[in-house]
Amino acid sequence: MSDLSVVVLISGRGSNLQALIDACADPGFPAHIVRVISNRPGAKGLERAAQAGIPTTVIDHTEFPDRAAFDAALSAEINKSQGELVCLAGFMRLLGDDFVGSLENRLINIHPSLLPDFKGLHVHERVIEAGVKSSGCTVHFVRPETDAGPIIAQSTVPVHDHDTPDTLAARVLEAEHVCYPAAVRLIAEGRVVVDDDSVLVDGRPLLAE
Ligand code: GAR
Repeated sequence: MSDLSVVVLISGRGSNLQALIDACADPGFPAHIVRVISNRPGAKGLERAAQAGIPTTVIDHTEFPDRAAFDAALSAEINKSQGELVCLAGFMRLLGDDFVGSLENRLINIHPSLLPDFKGLHVHERVIEAGVKSSGCTVHFVRPETDAGPIIAQSTVPVHDHDTPDTLAARVLEAEHVCYPAAVRLIAEGRVVVDDDSVLVDGRPLLAE
């Protein structure tokens, strides 16, 4: 079985990073994390990586004159690490089109809603405000448009009448921790193909058409 090299990009807490670290600790998991990169020096996820013996790099966006310079530093570090797949895990910087284009179908993200609904920030507040009865998370290939791109995996959770943004976020996060490693496994096993900007898993579309 192939063993995919993964670079994880974080900005904060790193609970999705932890889920990936835990998945990779299983000898049967077909991927391993070669480096964790944070754009914030104090990110808690850096400690999680260090504890797991994974090399870390801080590329502090505030030290760069513009997005292009930051993206170039990020690219150089990813190339140096020989990462085949790059996972955004709570990475809260917008990435430039050139950066995204250079990693086409090798850059994935997890977002705490059922995309294409509720792109952007303050997702759980907006889900509750909208009065919808279910929410969830989405793992997708990254495209230049924010929170868009071919969907690899989704997981749905209920929205309860008395949910607050925090209780809903906690329920969605639990689903994220299952969904993200599952999506990485599918990619590492070579079961994911991007066809005309939609994803086929084992030759079949994810969503009924
Ligand atoms: C997660 O809920 C992730 O889906 C979200 O940030 C959180 C990071 O948590 N990402 C986005 O909203 C990206 N658009 P974590 O640092 O504990 O993994």
